[in-house]
Order: sequence, then C-alpha cells, then structure tokens
Amino acid sequence: MSTEREPIAVIGTGYVGLVTAAGFAELGNEVLCVDVDAAKVERLTAGEVPIYEPGLAEVLESCRERLHFSTQLADALERARLLFVCVGTPPTHSGDADLSAVHDVVASMPASDTHALVMKSTVPPGTGTAVKRALAQQGKPLAYVSCPEFLREGSALKDFRHPDRVVVGDEGDWAGDAVVALYEPLGAPLVRTDVVSAEMVKLATNAFLSTKISFINEIANVCEETGADVLEVARGMGLDSRVGPAFLRPGIGFGGSCFPKDISALKQLAGNSGYHFQLLNAVIEVNDLQKRRVVSKLVKHLGDLVGKRVTLLGLAFKPDTDDMREASSLVLAARLLAEGAHVSAYDPVAEAHARELMPGVDFPGSALAALEGADACVLVTEWAQFTELDWQTAAQAMRGELVVDGRNALDPAAVRAGGLTYEGIGRP
Ligand code: UDX
Repeated sequence: MSTEREPIAVIGTGYVGLVTAAGFAELGNEVLCVDVDAAKVERLTAGEVPIYEPGLAEVLESCRERLHFSTQLADALERARLLFVCVGTPPTHSGDADLSAVHDVVASMPASDTHALVMKSTVPPGTGTAVKRALAQQGKPLAYVSCPEFLREGSALKDFRHPDRVVVGDEGDWAGDAVVALYEPLGAPLVRTDVVSAEMVKLATNAFLSTKISFINEIANVCEETGADVLEVARGMGLDSRVGPAFLRPGIGFGGSCFPKDISALKQLAGNSGYHFQLLNAVIEVNDLQKRRVVSKLVKHLGDLVGKRVTLLGLAFKPDTDDMREASSLVLAARLLAEGAHVSAYDPVAEAHARELMPGVDFPGSALAALEGADACVLVTEWAQFTELDWQTAAQAMRGELVVDGRNALDPAAVRAGGLTYEGIGRP
C-alpha cells in the first residue's frame, strides 16, 4: 500500500472531521467518511455542507470523486487502515470531557491488528491509555495514535494546509509512521512524541492561548482605570518576540467550541489528580466577568436599562463562522433581558442557530433594521460588514447615541463622525 496517497477513514463529520476529510482529499487521498447521523450523511452525499466554513464547500465539491460518505463503518474498514476519530467530546456537567462518542467508536471496532485509531478529537491526557486498555479488554489489537487538531473555525482549511506544527503521539509502531507520512506533503515541523505528551500539547496550547486573552482583557480593564490605550499597550508588548503579537486582542471574552471546554477539562483533570490549577481558575473567571462588563458600560451611559433598546451586532463566537457555542452574545443577551432591556440582534450567518438559543430577542433581519430605535448598540462579533457600516446612516436609525465596541474593531473617528458616542474595551 502506498503511504503517500493511502485511503483514510474519518469517523465523525463535524468541523474537525469534514475539514480533515477535505484537506486529505485535496492532497490526493481517498477519504471514507463515516457518521452515525443518517440525515447528515444523506445531505453530504447530495453535495450539501451542513456547516459554514469558508472554502469548505468548494473543496468538498472539487474533490468529490475522492470523498465517500456512509453510515457503515464496514466500507471504511475494508479500504482504509488509518481511522481518524473526529467525534465530539463536549463537556459534561462536571466540566470533564464527555468521551461516550469515543467509547462508541472503540466498541464498534473489529478485532484487527491492521487498523489504527488516530485520535483527532480533543481528549484529556490519559485517554489514549484508557482507549488502549478498553481495546485490549475487548480483544482488539488496534494501534493507537494521538494526532491533535489545532484548526481554527473560520480559517480551518488554511490551518490544515499550513499548520504551525503536526503533533503525532504514538507507541513507535507502523501507525505513527503512516500518520507522519500522510502529513509529510504539508512540510510542517513535526513533534513526534508519546501519546500522553501529544494529548497534553493540545490542552496546554489552548490553555495558554486562553490565558493570553484573559491577561490582555485584564490589562484592558486596568487601562480603563488609568487612561492608557490597550491597543497601544498590546502593540508594544507584542513586538517583544518573547510575547508575540497573537491573541492579545482584548474584547468581551473568548467563546467557541474549544477554549471554554478545553480549559475546563484541563482544570478538572488537574483537580481530579489532586492538583489545584490556580491560574486556570482565574482565566475562566476573568472571561466570565468580561462578558458582563459590557452591561456596566451600558448602565454607565444609559442608567437603568429597564425599557432601553439595545442592539447586538454579531452573535457568532467569532466572525466567519455560524458557531454559537459558548458565544459571548448568549450571556450578554440573557443579562440584558434580565435587566429589563429590549434586545434586537443581527448576525449575517449565525442567526438561524441564534434564534433557537435566544428567546425574547428580536431578529429584524438586517443590521440597520436591528438598529432602528436603539438607545445603544454593542458590537459583539467583528464581522467585516459591521466594521464597514456607515455610521451616519446608523445614527439616523438609532434613537440614542451609544456604540459599545466589544471587539475594538470599529474606527472610533468614523463612529464619532456620525454623531455617536464611542466606547471600546480598554481605550480612553
Ligand atoms: C481555537 C484554537 O485557536 C484552535 O487552535 C483550536 O483547535 C480550537 O480552538 P477557535 O475556537 O476556532 O480555535 O477560534 P480562535 O480564533 O482561536 O478564537 C477563540 C475565541 O477567542 C474567539 O471567541 C475569539 O473572539 C477570542 N479571541 C481570540 C479573543 O478574544 N482575542 C484574541 O486575541 C484572540
């Protein structure tokens, strides 16, 4: 079997699964995608893409002949030896990762020594050992490789094609070599290590990036007290090569399917093994408070919020995605409604998801319609169309004049030129 273009199986067709499938199909591999959700498989087979991710639909279309979708694992097992596990690992009520989908995959495996499970789903360190134990108990001698995924939603295909590094954790057997060979054409630096260290790389990276965001958010809050401009501070800090400029954008907190879940999983994992991860507790608390600080800003300008009309511009947890998981907008809308405000909102892509999650919020269908009669608006997600908004026209639609830029993405001069009051995060 040629390792360069060997067929692979992808189990689970969520964000990670579909991007992995598209990425490898683009590299010339045949990809057999398996999902338990028959309706989803049917849609994918018909050429529909169930998620919004820039460029994904195009790649799935152009590589159509190399991509197969099925609910049947047997087809995939027959043709591929590397089985990429891309199933969801959502947080449980205790904050631990829910590994039931991973265990379902293990249970569905045959007693084979020619197949390998390649774990792409984010799992807590120790999962590889537990999966190997479960496989052994079931008499299944499959190989196991940890190959954590670092893709960001909104730039997932770019991240697949140009990864900062590829991490492969394995037991030094054929499967690790085969996974390394698969990624070779990407020319990325390789970290080949043991399974548990590979698992830890993923959680530690996300915890560190979350820490950077909470850190700069706290600096922004101090800037508000001292009159400094956090954007200037972040620029000055980021030029220090030891600090680096990335993930120093202050705002109304991080969300998404990864950071909140992964830092909670790491915190629980540490706690369960007897270590109190103090720093991570603070990172989480700062992020929670950051979402609520916007309400204080509104109260500072508007006074009591009862009966006030507040517009949320953007709802997704970040631009270029329809993902509403752990989006700051959810907390903000609920807080505003609880304060007695009337909330209207607009998001160019995430609105269909948001409607179900935000009872009591109005969705009039466009940014300008949402701004109609507003006392204040809050930029929650920095979609390009909001940063390009004509603030003269927006001002005419609003009845009040407050613009809270929750992402520091707007041009304060343009907002003020419209006769509006600008309030950013950590800016004078
Ligand atoms: C993240 C990791 O970047 C990725 O490597 C991992 O595989 C999954 O989790 P993602 O959640 O898609 O990716 O988005 P990312 O671009 O990292 O942003 C996460 C959140 O942090 C967003 O809510 C974003 O608005 C926020 N953020 C990011 C900031 O508030 N400030 C920053 O400087 C950067």
